[in-house]
Amino acid sequence: MATATQGKGALARPARTKEVAVEVAGPSRREFLYYIWGASAVLLLGQVTAGIVWFALPRFREGEFGGVFRLPTDEVPASGSAPVAFPAGRFWLSNSDQGFLALYAVCTHLGCLPRWVDTNNRFECPCHGSKFEADGAYIEGPAPRGLDRFRVTVTFTNGDVATMDGSGAPIPLEGREIAEVAVDTGDRIMGT
Ligand code: FES
Repeated sequence: MATATQGKGALARPARTKEVAVEVAGPSRREFLYYIWGASAVLLLGQVTAGIVWFALPRFREGEFGGVFRLPTDEVPASGSAPVAFPAGRFWLSNSDQGFLALYAVCTHLGCLPRWVDTNNRFECPCHGSKFEADGAYIEGPAPRGLDRFRVTVTFTNGDVATMDGSGAPIPLEGREIAEVAVDTGDRIMGT
């Protein structure tokens, strides 16, 4: 009986809970340094990736100065006729006996804008009188060189494609008919 009473009393008493102190250990100094290094590496990688993407993307859109201008044939001057100005691209298209090219419309002296003078068959700068041939070659005046040119790519109707080389020499047409002209105003070649 005594054993049964003890058993009832034991059931009536609330169970005593053991309080266990749990100690949460923080990151060690070494782990903390790893985290900092990891975060720095991720940040650096992000910056490098953003830089690569920024450089890879074209900075200028087609049809605005600094980008490529694609011109249909009706915009191209006939062989031997006066150069045609494209103010939006700051260039002249010239189709002379020497060949076809795009001339930067800014004087190589102090940056004025030479004009085409039909009566003299040449470009003349209004500021200090420098003069240039239809293909941009230097004639006279204080300008240190001929007019600069933009790299131009000509696609012909027969499928030929010709791109101006680093010398900036005009592209010979050799009787071929032009289908399209692309002028890269972000790629300037020094005149001579
Ligand atoms: Fe053209 Fe001086 S700016 S000659």
